[in-house]
Amino acid sequence: MGITNSLVAVFPGSFDPPTNGHLDLIARATRLTGKLIVAVLSNENKQALFAAEERIAMLQEATSLPGVEFVIFDGLLVDFAAKHGATVILRGIRAVSDYEYELQMALMNRRLSPNIETIFLMSGEENSFVSSRLVKEVARLGGDVSGMVPKVVHRRLRERFQGDLNC
Ligand code: PNS
Repeated sequence: MGITNSLVAVFPGSFDPPTNGHLDLIARATRLTGKLIVAVLSNENKQALFAAEERIAMLQEATSLPGVEFVIFDGLLVDFAAKHGATVILRGIRAVSDYEYELQMALMNRRLSPNIETIFLMSGEENSFVSSRLVKEVARLGGDVSGMVPKVVHRRLRERFQGDLNC
């Protein structure tokens, strides 16, 4: 349980795939929250490498912290948050380049639901260059991403791209 035990927060994202950056944020967020709902976007209209169920399974295997739930979501984030009794949306910021996108989303979410506050955590410096997009690109091209993702993700990426590399 975190320092504000009554706080229910949502940590939304694509998590395609989960990275060490995500896990670091989840671990740090649990120190602040009573319940942290990691909300995995179902990406019905986006091209995802892993199905939402696979992403949840990877997150569950890589994380064993009390007070964390993993849930697939679609539709509006603020509706999902309200349905789960969350008053806070948590997001990570790596560099200034993240700021504009995050600001836009935070302001849109505030306009849609003024009672839900977005709180940002700075990513750990060791993960500040790590993104799911780049991890996928590097793994697809045969590069080593072992220090950037949990073991289970590394394994699944290897399985996924093995066929491509053997072509
Ligand atoms: O990991 P990502 O891809 O940066 O996460 C983006 C996410 C899932 C947080 C964002 O796309 C989202 O909230 N989607 C749900 C739809 C929604 O509520 N859109 C309006 C909010 S700006």
